[in-house]
Amino acid sequence: MSLLEVRDLNVKFNTPDGEVHAVKNMNFSMEEGETLAIVGESGSGKSQAVFAMIGLLARNGYASGSVMFEGTEILNLHGPALNKIRAAKISMIFQDPMTSLNPYMRVSDQMAEVLVHHKGMSKSAAIAESVKMLDAVKIPEAKSRITMYPHEFSGGMRQRVMIAMSLLCQPKLLIADEPTTALDVTVQAQIMQLLDDIQKDFGTAIILITHDLGVVAGSTHDTLVMYGGQVMEDAPTDELFAHPTHPYTRGLLSAVPRLDQDNETLNTIPGSPPNMMNMPKGCPFYGRCEYRLDVCVDTLPPLTEIPGHAGHFRACNVPVEDIK
Ligand SMILES: Nc1ncnc2c1ncn2[C@@H]1O[C@H](COP(=O)(O)OP(=O)(O)OP(=O)(O)O)[C@@H](O)[C@H]1O
Ligand SMILES: [Mg+2]
Repeated sequence: MSLLEVRDLNVKFNTPDGEVHAVKNMNFSMEEGETLAIVGESGSGKSQAVFAMIGLLARNGYASGSVMFEGTEILNLHGPALNKIRAAKISMIFQDPMTSLNPYMRVSDQMAEVLVHHKGMSKSAAIAESVKMLDAVKIPEAKSRITMYPHEFSGGMRQRVMIAMSLLCQPKLLIADEPTTALDVTVQAQIMQLLDDIQKDFGTAIILITHDLGVVAGSTHDTLVMYGGQVMEDAPTDELFAHPTHPYTRGLLSAVPRLDQDNETLNTIPGSPPNMMNMPKGCPFYGRCEYRLDVCVDTLPPLTEIPGHAGHFRACNVPVEDIK
């Protein structure tokens, strides 16, 4: 049994201008302790896919398909059943920690509240446990700093507080939605290292959502590349970097700055993502793809495993050998 198994997940929104099909036929599974990156440009459906899984869609959104977590269907769960899973098994950290931390409450009170409420701990035991967790995410002098307010921490330290808070109930799965976007590059690297340590020390499975393929290399087991609400390529991360076979992935990779190359010539993918309200019939990347074939106007093939590359799937009409 996989930790998480997502089958034919579709997410749609009703809007006054029509229906937005934000996530289309998404499939993937994850084992315990694994890390998965979901990568794609803004608007590709990354956040809505995970919001659907944990019941956080906006009111005009609805999801279909199946999301099995430890063998239990969790898609479209409501009320106490959903809260139980969200509190104890799956936790989520967001891009901007200030939106999830209460500015008027000391960090000690916010963290302790989680443990008092969900684990029935006494306040003093909860604070002791919270200090341990702040130590684990490498906040210096955690014991004295825990009584500070969120604004008294730097951006990177606040993100560490958020991560510590999300780990308090020892979740099986941690979802990190662009956890480093608001931070500068050095701090970004430290937070990525921290997530890596957490996965190793606690065995927590992690879904890392990012638009930046650069942060994915070396930090996740598998990578899903999304475009226009669909998974375009799905492969072990090392394999994806060694053999990127989807034109969109190749475009994203050529836009990643590299230290060993002249960055003055950093590429961008020409054009912009399709309008979700008016999606093309075939491949959503058609208009921007330098390899496009006539057949791509009308059809996007399903994700198919590449012969000789176990675990490497792509959705593309262009033969692998033609992608150079
Ligand atoms: N409540 C809503 N009503 C209508 N459309 C929505 C709603 N929420 C999201 N969408 C649309 O769903 C699509 C996917 O959004 P999503 O938030 O998943 O993108 P993303 O890949 O996470 O992008 P980003 O990198 O900018 O966070 C977007 O086109 C967005 O406009
Ligand atoms: Mg998002």
